[in-house]
Amino acid sequence: MSSNPRPLLLRDVRLPDGRSGIDVLCIGGRIAAIGPALAAPPDAEAIDGQGWLASPPFADAHFHLDSTLSYGLPRVNASGTLLEGIALWGELKPQLTADALVERALAYCDWAVAQGLLAIRSHVDVCDDRLLAVEALLDVKRCVAPYLDLQLVAFPQDGLLRSPTARANLLRALDRGVDVVGGIPHFERTMADGAESVRLLCEIAAERGLPVDLHCDESDDPLSRHVETLAYHVQRLGLHGRAAGSHLTSMHSMDNYYVSKLLPLMREAGLAAIANPLINITLQGRHDTYPKRRGMTRVPELLAAGIPVGLGHDCVMDPWYALGSGDMLEVASMALHVTQMTSQDGMRACFDAVTLTNARILGLPGWGLEVGCRASLVLLQARTPVEAIRLRAQRLLVVRDGTVLARGAPRATTLSLPGRPAHVDGTRQHP
Ligand code: FE2
Repeated sequence: MSSNPRPLLLRDVRLPDGRSGIDVLCIGGRIAAIGPALAAPPDAEAIDGQGWLASPPFADAHFHLDSTLSYGLPRVNASGTLLEGIALWGELKPQLTADALVERALAYCDWAVAQGLLAIRSHVDVCDDRLLAVEALLDVKRCVAPYLDLQLVAFPQDGLLRSPTARANLLRALDRGVDVVGGIPHFERTMADGAESVRLLCEIAAERGLPVDLHCDESDDPLSRHVETLAYHVQRLGLHGRAAGSHLTSMHSMDNYYVSKLLPLMREAGLAAIANPLINITLQGRHDTYPKRRGMTRVPELLAAGIPVGLGHDCVMDPWYALGSGDMLEVASMALHVTQMTSQDGMRACFDAVTLTNARILGLPGWGLEVGCRASLVLLQARTPVEAIRLRAQRLLVVRDGTVLARGAPRATTLSLPGRPAHVDGTRQHP
């Protein structure tokens, strides 16, 4: 965190709750005041927000920094499936170098910060006895600490029980400072082994006082039951509020009666859900003809049951996904489309998911535009959260703990159309 940067007064912004003409005063890395026409301390830097939307920064609840920007190495995923992606990553792993891992991860972090994405929970594969990726991402975490909150999850990509050294490696990774216990029960050899891995991983989290975040039921199998097992052990071990199930795509295909039993169990356990819409819609349904399942977990139903739902980018240009840019507005947009959360409240919930909810799931205090919160925000060339999603709004200013990290010029295009005077019309603002 920056130590006592010069006071910053951001003038004339809109807030996600609809208030406009608001000033935000940042002192000592915290928000000291929010309101109209605030007085600037004599040594403050003043920035004119020109009426644009100030938002809490974006946070990503699920990402893979060790594989990012490796697309095409050593080949592309021909089938587009999760399983070929895992196999492809297995081919690439022996060729990885620490330098290349660090270089790609740092490049992605630059992309993130430029877009106001200031917190990332990244899984890191521990199924490599060298722990090469673990060491590389711990280096990256130290390097980016002055400008990005990076949280690492020890992720046994090849299966805690299926890979002979995964358990020992996972414990070694945690010993070295990895923050969260990860897992992949649906990739174990049997449903029983998957359940056993969930038990073991939750017990490790309980013993070490760590959060747990498992890739869980990432399949189209309507009978996959690992989130039920996760909820059971989280409840049994008292891991309420620090446990998450990522993906949960099988819930898309589950029997409705069973889901009506499952949701209260998740709620009772204080479990969070993390959906990854760009990847779920891409990887799932690959064995279907038509109708083709979309593989997104039941976000509106989870929310209605009182379960926090975060959204992750998951992959950017890696063995599983050829696209992506670190723009959490793209993630929110895909989420609202594939879940049909197209009401104003639904779209707003998707915006909140990539800002406040993700930060809450990551356990980051002071994430919000309130007095006393961290003086971190992103200024978007939009007037409302929904407009920000619609336009993938330009980032005009990124501030972390009172320090300006990035400045962007407003998007504008000058049109020279036959028969009409030249005019600027690049912002696509609704009149
Ligand atoms: Fe993932």
